[in-house]
Amino acid sequence: MTSASVHQVPMPEFPMSRAEGCPFDPPPGLRDLQQEAPLARVRLIDGSTAWLVTRYEEQRAVLADKRVSADAGKPGYPSGGQIRQGSGNPIGFILMDDPEHARLRRMVTAPFMIKRVEAMRPAIQRIVDDLLDTMLAGPNPVDLVEVFALPVPSLVICELLGVPYADHGFFQRSSRSLVSRTVPPAERMASFQGLHDYLDDLLAEKTARPGDDLLSTLTERVKAGELTRSDAAGIGVLLLIAGHETTANMIALGTLALLENPDQLALLRDTDDPAVVAGAVEELLRYLNITHNGRRRVALEDIEIGGQVIRAGEGLIVANDIGNRDPAMFADPDRLDVTRDARRHVAFGFGVHQCLGQPLARVELQVVYGTLYRRVPTLALAADRDSIPFKHDAAVYGVHELPVRW
Ligand code: HEM
Repeated sequence: MTSASVHQVPMPEFPMSRAEGCPFDPPPGLRDLQQEAPLARVRLIDGSTAWLVTRYEEQRAVLADKRVSADAGKPGYPSGGQIRQGSGNPIGFILMDDPEHARLRRMVTAPFMIKRVEAMRPAIQRIVDDLLDTMLAGPNPVDLVEVFALPVPSLVICELLGVPYADHGFFQRSSRSLVSRTVPPAERMASFQGLHDYLDDLLAEKTARPGDDLLSTLTERVKAGELTRSDAAGIGVLLLIAGHETTANMIALGTLALLENPDQLALLRDTDDPAVVAGAVEELLRYLNITHNGRRRVALEDIEIGGQVIRAGEGLIVANDIGNRDPAMFADPDRLDVTRDARRHVAFGFGVHQCLGQPLARVELQVVYGTLYRRVPTLALAADRDSIPFKHDAAVYGVHELPVRW
Protein backbone atom coordinates (compact mmCIF):
# COMPACT_ATOMS: atom_id res chain seq x y z
CA MET A 1 0.00 0.00 0.00
CA THR A 2 1.43 3.40 -0.93
CA SER A 3 1.40 6.18 1.61
CA ALA A 4 -0.93 8.16 -0.68
CA SER A 5 -3.66 5.53 -0.32
CA VAL A 6 -3.43 5.51 3.49
CA HIS A 7 -5.49 8.61 4.01
CA GLN A 8 -7.17 9.31 7.30
CA VAL A 9 -10.95 9.75 7.03
CA PRO A 10 -11.82 12.67 9.33
CA MET A 11 -14.31 11.83 12.06
CA PRO A 12 -17.78 13.22 11.19
CA GLU A 13 -18.93 16.17 13.26
CA PHE A 14 -22.20 16.37 15.17
CA PRO A 15 -24.57 18.17 14.95
CA MET A 16 -24.60 18.26 11.14
CA SER A 17 -26.25 20.68 8.72
CA ARG A 18 -29.40 19.97 6.75
CA ALA A 19 -29.26 20.10 2.97
CA GLU A 20 -30.09 23.42 1.33
CA GLY A 21 -33.78 23.50 0.41
CA CYS A 22 -34.67 20.38 2.46
CA PRO A 23 -35.78 21.82 5.80
CA PHE A 24 -37.87 18.79 6.77
CA ASP A 25 -35.20 16.16 6.24
CA PRO A 26 -32.42 15.25 8.68
CA PRO A 27 -28.89 16.16 7.53
CA PRO A 28 -27.80 13.94 4.63
CA GLY A 29 -24.63 13.10 6.58
CA LEU A 30 -26.80 11.26 9.11
CA ARG A 31 -28.34 9.15 6.35
CA ASP A 32 -24.84 8.26 5.07
CA LEU A 33 -23.78 7.13 8.55
CA GLN A 34 -26.99 5.15 8.99
CA GLN A 35 -26.38 3.30 5.74
CA GLU A 36 -22.86 2.37 6.82
CA ALA A 37 -23.50 1.08 10.35
CA PRO A 38 -25.91 1.37 13.27
CA LEU A 39 -23.33 3.29 15.33
CA ALA A 40 -20.60 5.74 14.34
CA ARG A 41 -18.01 7.73 16.21
CA VAL A 42 -18.58 11.52 15.92
CA ARG A 43 -16.82 14.66 17.10
CA LEU A 44 -18.85 17.23 19.06
CA ILE A 45 -18.49 21.03 19.00
CA ASP A 46 -16.18 21.07 22.05
CA GLY A 47 -13.83 18.52 20.42
CA SER A 48 -14.98 15.55 22.53
CA THR A 49 -16.21 12.35 20.87
CA ALA A 50 -19.29 10.17 21.27
CA TRP A 51 -21.11 7.24 19.65
CA LEU A 52 -23.92 8.33 17.37
CA VAL A 53 -26.69 5.73 17.20
CA THR A 54 -28.42 6.03 13.83
CA ARG A 55 -30.64 2.97 13.34
CA TYR A 56 -34.09 2.54 14.85
CA GLU A 57 -33.64 -0.88 16.51
CA GLU A 58 -30.34 0.06 18.14
CA GLN A 59 -31.80 3.38 19.27
CA ARG A 60 -34.59 1.63 21.15
CA ALA A 61 -32.06 -0.81 22.60
CA VAL A 62 -29.90 2.03 23.97
CA LEU A 63 -32.84 3.99 25.37
CA ALA A 64 -34.20 0.88 27.11
CA ASP A 65 -30.84 -0.16 28.56
CA LYS A 66 -30.51 0.26 32.33
CA ARG A 67 -26.73 0.40 31.93
CA VAL A 68 -26.82 3.83 30.32
CA SER A 69 -27.31 7.06 32.24
CA ALA A 70 -29.09 10.32 31.37
CA ASP A 71 -27.22 12.21 34.12
CA ALA A 72 -25.39 15.13 32.52
CA GLY A 73 -23.16 15.34 35.59
CA LYS A 74 -21.58 11.93 34.91
CA PRO A 75 -18.09 11.89 33.36
CA GLY A 76 -18.29 11.16 29.65
CA TYR A 77 -21.82 12.55 29.20
CA PRO A 78 -21.83 13.93 25.63
CA SER A 79 -23.04 17.46 26.33
CA GLY A 80 -20.68 18.74 23.64
CA GLY A 81 -20.44 22.17 25.20
CA GLN A 82 -24.15 22.52 25.95
CA ILE A 83 -25.23 23.48 29.47
CA ARG A 84 -24.21 20.84 31.97
CA GLN A 85 -27.17 20.33 34.26
CA GLY A 86 -25.77 17.66 36.53
CA SER A 87 -27.20 16.42 39.78
CA GLY A 88 -26.33 19.75 41.46
CA ASN A 89 -28.68 21.97 39.46
CA PRO A 90 -31.12 19.88 37.52
CA ILE A 91 -33.87 20.83 35.08
CA GLY A 92 -36.42 18.55 36.64
CA PHE A 93 -35.80 14.82 36.35
CA ILE A 94 -35.04 14.55 32.63
CA LEU A 95 -31.31 14.41 33.38
CA MET A 96 -31.57 12.04 36.36
CA ASP A 97 -31.43 8.25 36.66
CA ASP A 98 -33.71 5.83 38.46
CA PRO A 99 -34.61 5.42 41.23
CA GLU A 100 -34.59 9.21 41.88
CA HIS A 101 -35.86 9.93 38.36
CA ALA A 102 -38.80 7.54 38.81
CA ARG A 103 -39.61 8.89 42.28
CA LEU A 104 -39.84 12.49 41.03
CA ARG A 105 -41.57 11.59 37.74
CA ARG A 106 -44.28 9.69 39.64
CA MET A 107 -45.14 12.88 41.56
CA VAL A 108 -46.35 14.58 38.38
CA THR A 109 -47.60 11.64 36.31
CA ALA A 110 -51.31 11.81 37.18
CA PRO A 111 -52.34 14.95 35.24
CA PHE A 112 -50.66 13.57 32.09
CA MET A 113 -52.49 10.24 32.08
CA ILE A 114 -54.61 9.66 28.97
CA LYS A 115 -57.94 9.81 30.83
CA ARG A 116 -57.12 13.11 32.54
CA VAL A 117 -55.84 14.63 29.31
CA GLU A 118 -58.91 13.45 27.36
CA ALA A 119 -61.02 15.31 29.92
CA MET A 120 -59.14 18.48 28.90
CA ARG A 121 -60.00 18.06 25.21
CA PRO A 122 -63.10 20.34 25.28
CA ALA A 123 -61.12 23.09 27.05
CA ILE A 124 -58.29 22.74 24.52
CA GLN A 125 -60.84 22.91 21.68
CA ARG A 126 -62.21 26.15 23.21
CA ILE A 127 -58.71 27.64 23.40
CA VAL A 128 -58.06 26.75 19.75
CA ASP A 129 -61.46 28.09 18.60
CA ASP A 130 -61.05 31.35 20.54
CA LEU A 131 -57.55 31.95 19.17
CA LEU A 132 -58.78 31.30 15.63
CA ASP A 133 -61.75 33.65 16.12
CA THR A 134 -59.31 36.37 17.16
CA MET A 135 -56.90 35.58 14.35
CA LEU A 136 -59.62 35.65 11.69
CA ALA A 137 -60.94 38.97 13.01
CA GLY A 138 -57.47 40.55 13.03
CA PRO A 139 -54.91 41.60 10.44
CA ASN A 140 -54.20 39.39 7.44
CA PRO A 141 -51.41 38.26 6.84
CA VAL A 142 -50.12 37.40 10.29
CA ASP A 143 -47.34 35.42 12.00
CA LEU A 144 -48.94 32.07 12.86
CA VAL A 145 -46.29 31.35 15.50
CA GLU A 146 -47.15 34.46 17.47
CA VAL A 147 -50.94 34.42 17.22
CA PHE A 148 -51.58 30.69 17.34
CA ALA A 149 -48.77 28.12 17.52
CA LEU A 150 -47.21 29.48 20.72
CA PRO A 151 -50.38 30.60 22.56
CA VAL A 152 -52.16 27.22 22.26
CA PRO A 153 -49.67 25.11 24.26
CA SER A 154 -48.67 28.04 26.49
CA LEU A 155 -52.27 28.60 27.59
CA VAL A 156 -52.76 24.87 28.16
CA ILE A 157 -49.60 24.30 30.21
CA CYS A 158 -50.19 27.49 32.24
CA GLU A 159 -53.67 26.26 33.16
CA LEU A 160 -52.36 22.82 34.09
CA LEU A 161 -49.43 24.08 36.16
CA GLY A 162 -51.14 27.12 37.65
CA VAL A 163 -48.74 29.63 36.05
CA PRO A 164 -50.26 33.05 35.20
CA TYR A 165 -50.47 33.29 31.38
CA ALA A 166 -49.90 37.05 31.74
CA ASP A 167 -46.22 36.17 32.30
CA HIS A 168 -45.93 34.34 28.95
CA GLY A 169 -43.59 36.96 27.44
CA PHE A 170 -41.05 36.26 30.18
CA PHE A 171 -41.16 32.47 30.14
CA GLN A 172 -41.33 32.16 26.36
CA ARG A 173 -38.24 34.40 26.05
CA SER A 174 -36.38 32.45 28.75
CA SER A 175 -37.25 29.07 27.21
CA ARG A 176 -36.15 30.24 23.78
CA SER A 177 -32.77 31.26 25.17
CA LEU A 178 -32.43 28.05 27.17
CA VAL A 179 -32.95 25.77 24.16
CA SER A 180 -30.79 27.86 21.81
CA ARG A 181 -27.47 26.48 20.61
CA THR A 182 -26.11 29.91 19.74
CA VAL A 183 -26.84 31.78 22.98
CA PRO A 184 -23.63 31.70 25.11
CA PRO A 185 -23.72 29.16 28.00
CA ALA A 186 -23.55 31.88 30.69
CA GLU A 187 -26.61 33.58 29.23
CA ARG A 188 -28.48 30.28 29.00
CA MET A 189 -27.59 29.56 32.60
CA ALA A 190 -28.96 32.99 33.58
CA SER A 191 -32.23 32.17 31.74
CA PHE A 192 -32.47 28.89 33.62
CA GLN A 193 -31.84 30.67 36.93
CA GLY A 194 -34.45 33.32 36.09
CA LEU A 195 -37.07 30.67 35.35
CA HIS A 196 -36.08 28.69 38.43
CA ASP A 197 -36.45 31.77 40.68
CA TYR A 198 -39.78 32.61 39.04
CA LEU A 199 -41.13 29.10 39.72
CA ASP A 200 -39.71 29.18 43.24
CA ASP A 201 -41.62 32.43 44.00
CA LEU A 202 -44.78 30.95 42.51
CA LEU A 203 -44.39 27.85 44.71
CA ALA A 204 -44.05 30.11 47.77
CA GLU A 205 -47.34 31.82 46.84
CA LYS A 206 -49.07 28.48 46.30
CA THR A 207 -47.83 27.18 49.62
CA ALA A 208 -49.72 30.04 51.25
CA ARG A 209 -52.75 29.89 48.92
CA PRO A 210 -52.95 26.50 47.19
CA GLY A 211 -55.10 26.16 44.06
CA ASP A 212 -56.35 23.28 41.95
CA ASP A 213 -53.20 22.93 39.85
CA LEU A 214 -50.02 20.88 39.49
CA LEU A 215 -47.69 23.34 41.24
CA SER A 216 -50.01 23.36 44.26
CA THR A 217 -49.82 19.55 44.47
CA LEU A 218 -46.03 19.86 44.42
CA THR A 219 -46.16 22.22 47.41
CA GLU A 220 -47.96 19.43 49.31
CA ARG A 221 -45.00 17.14 48.56
CA VAL A 222 -42.63 19.83 49.78
CA LYS A 223 -44.63 20.21 53.01
CA ALA A 224 -44.56 16.43 53.48
CA GLY A 225 -40.76 16.51 53.21
CA GLU A 226 -40.70 14.34 50.05
CA LEU A 227 -39.30 17.09 47.85
CA THR A 228 -37.15 20.18 48.31
CA ARG A 229 -38.57 23.48 47.05
CA SER A 230 -35.65 23.74 44.67
CA ASP A 231 -36.43 20.31 43.16
CA ALA A 232 -40.08 21.33 42.86
CA ALA A 233 -39.04 24.51 41.03
CA GLY A 234 -36.79 22.41 38.74
CA ILE A 235 -39.73 20.18 37.86
CA GLY A 236 -41.81 23.31 37.21
CA VAL A 237 -39.12 24.65 34.82
CA LEU A 238 -39.02 21.33 32.94
CA LEU A 239 -42.79 21.11 32.55
CA LEU A 240 -43.17 24.75 31.58
CA ILE A 241 -40.48 24.57 28.88
CA ALA A 242 -41.34 21.09 27.59
CA GLY A 243 -45.03 21.96 27.73
CA HIS A 244 -44.99 24.81 25.24
CA GLU A 245 -41.69 24.85 23.24
CA THR A 246 -42.15 21.43 21.68
CA THR A 247 -45.85 21.51 20.80
CA ALA A 248 -45.59 25.08 19.49
CA ASN A 249 -42.87 24.03 17.06
CA MET A 250 -44.86 21.00 15.95
CA ILE A 251 -47.86 23.23 15.18
CA ALA A 252 -45.92 25.74 13.06
CA LEU A 253 -43.51 23.34 11.34
CA GLY A 254 -46.31 20.81 10.79
CA THR A 255 -48.41 23.51 9.14
CA LEU A 256 -45.54 24.47 6.84
CA ALA A 257 -44.93 20.82 5.92
CA LEU A 258 -48.62 20.38 5.12
CA LEU A 259 -48.77 23.58 3.06
CA GLU A 260 -45.87 22.17 1.03
CA ASN A 261 -47.70 18.85 0.63
CA PRO A 262 -51.20 20.00 -0.42
CA ASP A 263 -52.41 16.45 -1.18
CA GLN A 264 -51.65 15.48 2.43
CA LEU A 265 -53.20 18.69 3.77
CA ALA A 266 -56.37 17.92 1.77
CA LEU A 267 -56.64 14.47 3.39
CA LEU A 268 -56.55 16.10 6.82
CA ARG A 269 -58.82 19.04 5.94
CA ASP A 270 -61.50 16.93 4.30
CA THR A 271 -61.97 14.36 7.05
CA ASP A 272 -64.07 14.40 10.16
CA ASP A 273 -62.75 11.02 11.27
CA PRO A 274 -60.74 11.48 14.51
CA ALA A 275 -58.72 8.34 13.70
CA VAL A 276 -57.47 9.92 10.45
CA VAL A 277 -56.45 13.08 12.31
CA ALA A 278 -54.74 11.03 15.05
CA GLY A 279 -52.85 9.04 12.40
CA ALA A 280 -51.72 12.26 10.70
CA VAL A 281 -50.42 13.58 14.03
CA GLU A 282 -48.25 10.46 14.50
CA GLU A 283 -46.90 10.75 10.96
CA LEU A 284 -46.06 14.44 11.39
CA LEU A 285 -44.30 13.64 14.69
CA ARG A 286 -42.27 10.95 12.90
CA TYR A 287 -41.52 12.98 9.80
CA LEU A 288 -40.55 16.22 11.55
CA ASN A 289 -38.92 14.83 14.72
CA ILE A 290 -38.36 18.28 16.19
CA THR A 291 -36.00 17.14 19.00
CA HIS A 292 -33.21 17.04 16.41
CA ASN A 293 -30.21 17.17 18.76
CA GLY A 294 -30.40 13.53 19.76
CA ARG A 295 -31.13 11.93 23.12
CA ARG A 296 -27.92 12.00 25.14
CA ARG A 297 -26.65 9.23 27.39
CA VAL A 298 -23.41 7.83 28.86
CA ALA A 299 -22.56 4.13 29.33
CA LEU A 300 -22.15 3.12 32.98
CA GLU A 301 -20.67 -0.30 32.09
CA ASP A 302 -19.20 -1.88 28.98
CA ILE A 303 -22.16 -2.75 26.76
CA GLU A 304 -22.57 -4.20 23.30
CA ILE A 305 -25.03 -2.57 20.92
CA GLY A 306 -25.35 -3.42 17.24
CA GLY A 307 -22.17 -5.50 17.38
CA GLN A 308 -20.22 -2.56 18.80
CA VAL A 309 -18.69 -2.53 22.29
CA ILE A 310 -19.30 0.76 24.08
CA ARG A 311 -16.90 1.21 26.97
CA ALA A 312 -18.02 2.46 30.39
CA GLY A 313 -17.77 6.27 30.39
CA GLU A 314 -18.31 6.68 26.65
CA GLY A 315 -21.07 9.00 25.49
CA LEU A 316 -24.00 7.95 23.29
CA ILE A 317 -26.23 10.19 21.18
CA VAL A 318 -29.42 8.62 19.91
CA ALA A 319 -30.30 10.57 16.75
CA ASN A 320 -34.03 9.93 16.79
CA ASP A 321 -34.58 12.16 13.73
CA ILE A 322 -32.73 9.72 11.46
CA GLY A 323 -34.13 6.77 13.48
CA ASN A 324 -37.59 7.87 12.39
CA ARG A 325 -36.36 7.78 8.77
CA ASP A 326 -34.88 4.28 9.04
CA PRO A 327 -36.07 2.38 5.92
CA ALA A 328 -35.85 -0.89 7.86
CA MET A 329 -38.70 0.42 10.01
CA PHE A 330 -40.67 2.81 7.79
CA ALA A 331 -41.10 2.15 4.07
CA ASP A 332 -40.22 5.12 1.85
CA PRO A 333 -39.30 7.01 5.03
CA ASP A 334 -38.68 10.43 3.48
CA ARG A 335 -42.23 10.69 2.18
CA LEU A 336 -44.83 12.47 4.30
CA ASP A 337 -47.79 10.09 4.19
CA VAL A 338 -50.49 10.93 6.73
CA THR A 339 -52.24 7.61 6.04
CA ARG A 340 -49.33 5.39 7.10
CA ASP A 341 -49.18 3.71 10.51
CA ALA A 342 -46.37 5.72 12.15
CA ARG A 343 -47.22 4.92 15.76
CA ARG A 344 -43.91 3.21 16.54
CA HIS A 345 -41.90 6.39 15.91
CA VAL A 346 -39.32 7.55 18.44
CA ALA A 347 -40.23 11.25 18.35
CA PHE A 348 -41.19 11.00 22.03
CA GLY A 349 -38.07 8.97 22.86
CA PHE A 350 -38.27 5.48 24.37
CA GLY A 351 -37.62 3.81 27.70
CA VAL A 352 -37.91 5.37 31.16
CA HIS A 353 -37.43 8.94 29.91
CA GLN A 354 -40.06 8.59 27.21
CA CYS A 355 -41.99 11.87 27.01
CA LEU A 356 -44.24 12.33 30.01
CA GLY A 357 -46.37 14.90 28.20
CA GLN A 358 -47.09 12.82 25.10
CA PRO A 359 -50.80 12.28 25.78
CA LEU A 360 -51.20 16.03 26.21
CA ALA A 361 -49.11 16.84 23.12
CA ARG A 362 -51.18 14.35 21.10
CA VAL A 363 -54.52 15.86 22.14
CA GLU A 364 -53.28 19.40 21.50
CA LEU A 365 -52.00 18.48 18.04
CA GLN A 366 -55.13 16.48 17.19
CA VAL A 367 -57.32 19.44 18.11
CA VAL A 368 -55.09 21.91 16.24
CA TYR A 369 -54.58 19.87 13.05
CA GLY A 370 -58.24 18.80 13.13
CA THR A 371 -59.46 22.41 13.38
CA LEU A 372 -57.03 24.89 11.79
CA TYR A 373 -57.25 23.76 8.14
CA ARG A 374 -60.99 23.10 8.26
CA ARG A 375 -61.73 26.52 9.69
CA VAL A 376 -59.15 28.28 7.48
CA PRO A 377 -59.25 26.24 4.25
CA THR A 378 -57.55 29.00 2.24
CA LEU A 379 -54.55 29.16 4.62
CA ALA A 380 -51.38 29.87 2.61
CA LEU A 381 -47.81 31.04 3.12
CA ALA A 382 -47.51 34.83 3.00
CA ALA A 383 -43.77 34.82 2.31
CA ASP A 384 -41.26 33.18 0.07
CA ARG A 385 -40.40 29.71 1.44
CA ASP A 386 -36.72 30.61 1.24
CA SER A 387 -37.22 33.55 3.59
CA ILE A 388 -38.72 31.47 6.43
CA PRO A 389 -36.29 31.47 9.38
CA PHE A 390 -35.75 27.87 10.52
CA LYS A 391 -34.49 27.03 14.02
CA HIS A 392 -31.26 25.35 12.99
CA ASP A 393 -29.77 26.95 16.09
CA ALA A 394 -32.14 25.46 18.68
CA ALA A 395 -32.44 22.18 20.57
CA VAL A 396 -36.04 22.00 19.41
CA TYR A 397 -36.42 22.43 15.64
CA GLY A 398 -39.11 24.54 14.04
CA VAL A 399 -39.59 27.99 12.54
CA HIS A 400 -39.07 31.31 14.29
CA GLU A 401 -41.92 32.85 12.30
CA LEU A 402 -44.54 31.61 9.86
CA PRO A 403 -46.21 34.43 7.91
CA VAL A 404 -49.59 33.19 6.66
CA ARG A 405 -52.63 34.65 4.88
CA TRP A 406 -56.08 33.31 4.07
C1 HEM B 1 -44.86 17.35 20.27
C2 HEM B 1 -44.45 17.64 21.44
C3 HEM B 1 -43.36 16.94 22.20
C4 HEM B 1 -42.26 16.23 21.77
C5 HEM B 1 -41.84 15.94 20.33
C6 HEM B 1 -41.56 15.79 22.95
C7 HEM B 1 -40.41 15.02 22.92
C8 HEM B 1 -39.79 14.49 24.05
C9 HEM B 1 -38.66 13.57 24.02
C10 HEM B 1 -37.96 13.05 22.77
C11 HEM B 1 -38.36 13.25 25.31
C12 HEM B 1 -37.31 12.25 25.77
C13 HEM B 1 -36.07 12.87 26.31
C14 HEM B 1 -34.93 11.88 26.53
O1 HEM B 1 -35.09 10.68 26.34
O2 HEM B 1 -33.84 12.34 26.84
C15 HEM B 1 -39.28 13.98 26.15
C16 HEM B 1 -39.28 13.95 27.52
C17 HEM B 1 -40.12 14.71 28.30
N1 HEM B 1 -41.19 15.48 27.88
FE1 HEM B 1 -41.77 15.77 25.98
N2 HEM B 1 -42.22 16.23 24.05
C18 HEM B 1 -43.33 16.92 23.64
C19 HEM B 1 -44.29 17.52 24.44
C20 HEM B 1 -44.27 17.55 25.81
C21 HEM B 1 -45.28 18.18 26.63
C22 HEM B 1 -46.53 18.87 26.14
C23 HEM B 1 -44.88 18.00 27.91
C24 HEM B 1 -45.66 18.47 29.10
C25 HEM B 1 -45.28 19.14 30.05
C26 HEM B 1 -43.62 17.25 27.90
C27 HEM B 1 -42.90 16.87 29.00
C28 HEM B 1 -41.78 16.04 28.98
C29 HEM B 1 -41.08 15.62 30.17
C30 HEM B 1 -41.43 16.00 31.59
C31 HEM B 1 -40.04 14.79 29.75
C32 HEM B 1 -39.00 14.08 30.62
C33 HEM B 1 -39.44 12.67 30.92
C34 HEM B 1 -38.47 11.92 31.77
O3 HEM B 1 -37.27 12.25 31.81
O4 HEM B 1 -38.90 10.97 32.45
N3 HEM B 1 -43.29 17.00 26.60
N4 HEM B 1 -40.15 14.71 25.36
